[in-house]
Amino acid sequence: MAIAFPNVTVLNHPLVQHKLTLLRRKDTATSVFRQLMRELSLLMAYEVTRDLPTETVAIETPMEVMQAPLLSGKKLCFLSILRAGNGMLDGMLDLVPSARVGHIGLYRDPATLVPVEYYLKFPDDVQERLVIVVDPMVATGHSAAAAITRLKQAGVSQISFACLIAAPEGLGALADAHPGLPVYVAAIDRQLDGHGYICPGLGDAGDRLYGTR
Ligand code: URA
Repeated sequence: MAIAFPNVTVLNHPLVQHKLTLLRRKDTATSVFRQLMRELSLLMAYEVTRDLPTETVAIETPMEVMQAPLLSGKKLCFLSILRAGNGMLDGMLDLVPSARVGHIGLYRDPATLVPVEYYLKFPDDVQERLVIVVDPMVATGHSAAAAITRLKQAGVSQISFACLIAAPEGLGALADAHPGLPVYVAAIDRQLDGHGYICPGLGDAGDRLYGTR
């Protein structure tokens, strides 16, 4: 039985699903994997930004003056959860080149399993921006939840989360920690294995992006 996650949008666009299938394949080469993640992230950025407010302004075309929409409201910031989140930045920035970028590094303490922050850099005006947190994989959801807690501590009030593949366990943990958070995913997979990997998933996203294994 499918578990309902009310604030989760699954991007079932055929291009997204096709590219995700190619990404998952174990024989997809590192360079192709990186390019596919870039393309998927661009398509995701299109959906994640669907509700951005616009205002109507007067412009002049070569033919005449017209009233036309332009983005208004908060500027964007992408927050990458290191290291695999970096694989989603280029595609997002292709679509929104003026966005600022923050980074957060977290590792899991082997004794307590609690995420520990080892790196943090936000733009100075992060609290004035709509922040889209990116991480291709949501497994336990603990890193995602910790990153969002950190943003809230910094005064950010408008936050969305974008990932490619999520485990139901991770989405549940994220919803418990941050009720109402808008989450965008390309797929919700079956479950975590005993080592915290998503099944069927795509393996370790960081290793596949950077060819480190
Ligand atoms: N991170 C990954 O890169 N892959 C998983 O399956 C889970 C977490």
